[in-house]
Amino acid sequence: MPHWVNDIQILSEVDKTPTETIKISDDTHTGKGRKLYIESYGCQMNFSDSEIVTSIMHNHGYDTTSNYHDADVVFLNTCSIRENAEQKVRKRLSEINLSKKNKPSLVVGVLGCMAERLKAKLLEEEKIVDMVVGPDAYRDLGTLMQEVDEGHKAVNVFLSKEETYADIAPVRLHTNGVTAYISIMRGCDNMCSFCVVPYTRGRERSRDIQSIVNEAKDLFAQGYREVTLLGQNVDSYKYNDDGNVLNFAHLLERVALIHPDLRVRFSTSHPKDMTDDVLYTMSKYENICKYVHLPVQSGSTRILELMNRTYTREWYIGRIDAIRNILGEDCGISTDTISGFCTETDEDHADTLSIMKYAKFDYAYMFTYSERPNTPAAKKLKDDVPDNIKKKRLNEIIQLQGQLSRERNQQDLGNTYKVLIEGYSKKSDDYLQGRNSQNKVIVFPKMHYKKGEYVHVFVEKCTQATLLGHVIN
Ligand code: SAH
Ligand code: SF4
Ligand code: F3S
Repeated sequence: MPHWVNDIQILSEVDKTPTETIKISDDTHTGKGRKLYIESYGCQMNFSDSEIVTSIMHNHGYDTTSNYHDADVVFLNTCSIRENAEQKVRKRLSEINLSKKNKPSLVVGVLGCMAERLKAKLLEEEKIVDMVVGPDAYRDLGTLMQEVDEGHKAVNVFLSKEETYADIAPVRLHTNGVTAYISIMRGCDNMCSFCVVPYTRGRERSRDIQSIVNEAKDLFAQGYREVTLLGQNVDSYKYNDDGNVLNFAHLLERVALIHPDLRVRFSTSHPKDMTDDVLYTMSKYENICKYVHLPVQSGSTRILELMNRTYTREWYIGRIDAIRNILGEDCGISTDTISGFCTETDEDHADTLSIMKYAKFDYAYMFTYSERPNTPAAKKLKDDVPDNIKKKRLNEIIQLQGQLSRERNQQDLGNTYKVLIEGYSKKSDDYLQGRNSQNKVIVFPKMHYKKGEYVHVFVEKCTQATLLGHVIN
């Protein structure tokens, strides 16, 4: 499933994981530690990083708590992707400021992308913050905590060319015990003109293949049945294994071979880099899910060029055709769109609508353009599409996507899908829910089935976001 926090998104009724939500830490009790409470904002990578942070903090003797009021230390793992993502964090800091009055010893740390973007400036702007830690500096948390304990403010926003935290075993937070995320790379070397990620996450680097495979094996042994391999651009995964250069298709194969009952997903694919090789590897293994998240951003070649996405409308259409040819019509495809990028005309917008119709996306994460300081677009282009036009175009995109999602779901009626059960349906404990290979959420009566099991579900009904059915033998 895609993992970005959205301004507005089509969410399934039952699977809210792609998340507007904010994730908080679970409880762990060693009985000895000070208590850490973490809130994670932004993309799945950030959530995955919070699991690494928790692991590092455990090693320094901190327990985690899901109750903010119990905490001695509060970390906000932040996102900078759009302005409203940062506003959310500022609002949260002011709430924390109020409660700190009752607990003056509370330590407040800002981690992640906003920490990296604003650096020490954040200490001046938000007086309540004791500690600013960028995404590559988490190994230093012990020392930084010590500095704070000694009465200083602490900052480490050093970006590394090597850090992948390959040797750190993440402490799984909010886990359903069935599905887990594995970071396979960090950073991004693309320079999409609108995007802050290359500045907040640094250079792209791939993680040691063996450490990824080991983590997946470990998860399988613990009972997990699905892993999602995470990177900003998974198709550029590259690892030099003793002179043998391994790409993403190799990695996918290695993980798929761990066990036929371990499902493999991945996100995000970049249209310029997604190879037929990857698609053929997907088709070769039943347990690699037939689902691709392929952000289009815009359907207009002129806008794509200004965005520096380095592909054209025709190229993107060619990639959609390749997915449909190699993996079949029913392969799940989702996307991200940005409305109202600099100079976007009604005609460019119409190109986005038409490419959506062509691709028949199953769903989409749809945004309006938010200018980010110091990005190439902010430096060179004028954010000249008025807000009301941005919103009007976004609404048209949302409406069209709603229709496409419904149509795609209706095509599934009468089909039977293999579903990995993830837990109870959000609406009732008499129903279970899981996803099919194409990443669609399917709800069905519980009977004697349990989470972590595979079942075959015959689909009888659907909404825009969910399929409903019953298990058949
Ligand atoms: N690495 C992924 C996306 C990372 S950010 C990729 O290349 O596709 C997730 C999504 O946020 C992007 O796909 C884009 O649609 C959106 N986004 C990024 N920067 C944005 C901005 N400045 N304004 C609005 N949306 C943005
Ligand atoms: Fe941002 Fe582009 Fe990198 Fe995605 S590929 S993280 S949009 S710069
Ligand atoms: Fe993710 Fe937001 Fe950073 S989307 S990479 S947490 S800017």
